[in-house]
Amino acid sequence: MLVNSQNYRTVWMQDSSVCMINQQLLPHKFEIYKSKNHVDTANAIKTMIVRGAPAIGATGAFGIAQAALEFKGNNFEDFKNNIEIASNILKSTRPTANDLFYAIDFVKGKILKNFNVENARKDAVKSASEYADWNAELCRQIGEHGNKLIKNSQNILTHCNAGALACVDFGTALSPIRIAHYNKKNIFVYVDETRPRNQGASLTAWELAQEKISHAIIADNAAGHFMRKGKIDFAIVGADRIAMNGDVANKIGTYEKAVLARENSIPFYVAAPLSTFDIKCGSGDEIPIEERSEDELLYIHGIDEDKKIKKIRIAPIESSAKNPAFDVTPAKYITGIITEKGVIKPTREHIEIFMKNSN
Ligand code: MRU
Repeated sequence: MLVNSQNYRTVWMQDSSVCMINQQLLPHKFEIYKSKNHVDTANAIKTMIVRGAPAIGATGAFGIAQAALEFKGNNFEDFKNNIEIASNILKSTRPTANDLFYAIDFVKGKILKNFNVENARKDAVKSASEYADWNAELCRQIGEHGNKLIKNSQNILTHCNAGALACVDFGTALSPIRIAHYNKKNIFVYVDETRPRNQGASLTAWELAQEKISHAIIADNAAGHFMRKGKIDFAIVGADRIAMNGDVANKIGTYEKAVLARENSIPFYVAAPLSTFDIKCGSGDEIPIEERSEDELLYIHGIDEDKKIKKIRIAPIESSAKNPAFDVTPAKYITGIITEKGVIKPTREHIEIFMKNSN
C-alpha cells in the first residue's frame, strides 16, 4: 500500500522482530511498532495495534516463527510443547476472525512435520513469510475479480476497514476499489465511520486519501438515508468468518447495512479469501462474537489542537455499555462472496462445490 508515496505492508518480519504499522495511532501518526517476542506480538493483536482478519492471521503466523526462534535447546518434544503454548497464547487474543487460527495452524503444520528442532527453526520464518506473501497475492486476486463488478461512475459504500491495513496488502473489500481506481474508473466511496472504534473514519479514509481515491466519511446511521436517496450503487464489506451456509460475521453494523441494501435493491458483496470460511461452522449462530471493553463506547479518542492524542468520556459516569465487536449477516442478504478464485453464491451447495473444486 502507498504511504506518503512509498510502498508498505501492514506487517512483516525483520530479524526476530515482527514489525507492524501501528493502527492505534492512525490517522494522526504513522509509526512502525516492533514486537520483540511472541508474547508482545500476541499483545499487539489483543490491543489492536494490528487488526483486521488477514492481518492478525499473518501476525499470528509471525508470532509462531518468533516462538520457534526463542526456543533454546534441541529436544523436539520440548520444542513442540513450547510451540503449542505459544499457539494458545496467540489464538486466545481475539475469537472471531478465522484467519488467526488458520494462519497459526498453517505455520505449525509446516514446522512440526520436521521432527527436528534445527530444521523447524529454519523453516519457521520462511513459512510465516510465505503465508504473508500468499495472503497479499490472494487479496490482489480478490481485487481483480471484484473490479469486474464495479462500473464506471459508481458510488460505493464500505463498512469498517477491510483495506490493506486489515490484511498484508491490497485489502479485501478495498482491493476491488483500489484496482477499479488503478483502471481509471471514476468511483466515489462512502465510508461508514464504524463506531465504536471508528476504523472507517480513521483507517479506511486514511488509506483512500493516501491513494487519492475520492471519498466521504458518513455517520454509521446515515447509510440508509444515502441509499434511499439513490446515492449508493454498490456495497462491499470484508468478513472475519464465514459459515458453510454463507452467513458472514463482520464488524458490528454490517448486518443492518445489508438489510438496508436489500430494501433499496443495492447489490451487497462480501470480499474475503477462502481461508475465511470455517468448515466446522454450519451457520452464523455458531460463530463466536468478541465482546470488547465498554470503554470503547463510553469514551472517544482523538487529537486536540496541540496534536496530543486524548481520551474523552462522552457518557454519564453512571452508565454502562454493551459492546459486541461483530455481527452476523444472514446469507440471504448477500449478493455474492468475492474470493481469490472468483465470486461464490452464498448457499451451502455453492460453497461446498466451490471449496472442493479449489483444493
Ligand atoms: O475489529 P477489527 O478492526 O479487527 O475488525 C475488522 C473487520 O471487521 C474487517 O471488516 C474484517 O476483519 C475483514 S478485513 C479484511
